[in-house]
Amino acid sequence: MEYWDGKKERIEREKLEQLQLELLNRTLKSAYNSPFYKKRFKKLGLKPEIKDISEIQKFPFTTKDDLRESYPFGMVATDIGNLVRMHGSSGTTGKSTLVFHTRKDIENWANLVARCLYMIGVRETDIFQNMMSYGLFTGGLGLHYGAEKIGTLVIPIGSGNTKKQIEFLLDLKTTVLHITPSYLLYIAYMAEQMNLSPSDDFNIKIAIVGAEPHSEGLRKKLENIFKINVYNCYGLSEMNGPGVAFECPYQKGLHIWEDHYFVEIIDPETGELLPDGKEGELVLTTLQREGMPLIRYRTRDITKIIKGKCPCGRTHRRIARVKGRTDDMFIVKGVNIFPSQIETVLMDVPEVDKNYQIIIEREKGLDILKIQVEVKKSTFTGDIVQLRNLQERIKENLKDVILINPIVELVEPGTLPPSTGKAKRVIDKRKV
Ligand code: DLL
Repeated sequence: MEYWDGKKERIEREKLEQLQLELLNRTLKSAYNSPFYKKRFKKLGLKPEIKDISEIQKFPFTTKDDLRESYPFGMVATDIGNLVRMHGSSGTTGKSTLVFHTRKDIENWANLVARCLYMIGVRETDIFQNMMSYGLFTGGLGLHYGAEKIGTLVIPIGSGNTKKQIEFLLDLKTTVLHITPSYLLYIAYMAEQMNLSPSDDFNIKIAIVGAEPHSEGLRKKLENIFKINVYNCYGLSEMNGPGVAFECPYQKGLHIWEDHYFVEIIDPETGELLPDGKEGELVLTTLQREGMPLIRYRTRDITKIIKGKCPCGRTHRRIARVKGRTDDMFIVKGVNIFPSQIETVLMDVPEVDKNYQIIIEREKGLDILKIQVEVKKSTFTGDIVQLRNLQERIKENLKDVILINPIVELVEPGTLPPSTGKAKRVIDKRKV
C-alpha cells in the first residue's frame, strides 16, 4: 500500500489525540479573533482553552444560520489582506454562506485532496477530467489543485456540455473522472445514444463521485456500466469542500481526516453526543484553518462512525456513506422517508435503468407519493402484463422499506430530466 503522506495517514491514535488537543486549542484561540466567536464566547463566559478533548463539548454548535447571520465577513479570523480565496453556496434561498481561505488554507486543502487521490491510485501519468463545476462551488477548484499537486494532467472542463465531455473522453483517453453520480449516469445514457459502449470505448479506470447522496446500489451500477472503480468523496464548502472524507481501495466507508477535522456524531434532536457505530448528525470542527475556523459545525448530514480498524493501515476513522441530510428527509402520511431509501430499493431491481424522480403531491388533503422510474428499453415489449408485474414488484419492494404505498410510474430511458450537477430527485409540490 502506497501513501501520499504515510506518517500523517497512519499516525498512532494516541498521538493523533494529543495533536487534536493542541490543534483544538489553537483553533479556539484563533476563532476568538473573529467578531462572531468573540461575541459568542464572551457572552457565554467561555475561555478559548481546553485541557481535555472532551471539554470541546462546552462550546455551542455553529449552524448554517450563524454563517448567514455573520455574512459576509463576521466569521473571518484574520486580516482581509491574508485571504486569497472565497467559496460558498450560491444561496438560492436567502444569503449565500461564504467561506474564506488564506494561502495556507488552500495549500492544506490541496494536500488533503492529493492524499485522497493518491489513496485510490491516481498518479502523475493519469489524465484527469474534472467534470464538476468551477466557481463558488468547491467541486471544481477543490479537486483541481489536489490533482495538480500529484502532477496529474488536469482537464478543467467543468460540468455540462456533454457531447464535448464525451469527445474528450475518447480523444484524450481520460483515465480518471470527477463527477456527480447522477451526471455519470447521464454520460452513460448519452454515450449509448451515440452508439458507444461505456465499458469498451473509453479508457476510464476510476470515477470519483460525490456532492450528492447516492446508494451502494448506484455505485455498483456505475461500476458495472463502465467496468471501472467508483469511489465516494464527501465534503462541504463550510469545511473547504471535497476531500473531507474519502474511500480507500477497500470501499468500506470513508476515511475522515482527523488531523484536519475534529469529528462528533450527535443526536440531531437533542444534540447529545453519540458513540461510534450509532447513526446521527455529523458535527465537524476545523483543526488547521486560519481564514475561517468553525467550531462544532452542524453539517446536517446523517452518517455514523464505522467501528474497527481499516485493513489499508490508515488510522483515521471511517464514516459510513452519507444517507442524506436532516433537511432532505420528507414526511408523507406521517412517515419519515429519505430519498436514499428509495434509491436503494430501485437499484436492486435489474430492470431499472438510469434515472428516477420522486414527486409528492397533495390531493384533497391526502399526501400522494409518486415515483417515476426509467426502466430498460427491452422491458417495453408491448406485453402489458409483464410491465404491470414489474410495476407491482417495485411497488411491493418499496412498501417493505418505506412502509407506505407509492404510485409507481414506469417510463422509457431518457424521459426524465437529466442532471449535470447535483441531482434534484425530490419535487415536493405540497410546498410550491
Ligand atoms: O458538494 C462539496 C463536494 C464537491 C463534495 C464535490 C464532493 C465532491 P456543498 O455544495 O457545500 O459542497 O454541499 C455539501 O452535499 O453537506 C452533503 O449533504 C452533500 N454531499 C457532498 N458529498 C456527498 C457524498 C459539496 N459523497 C453537501 N455523499 C453535504 C452524500 C454528499 N452527500
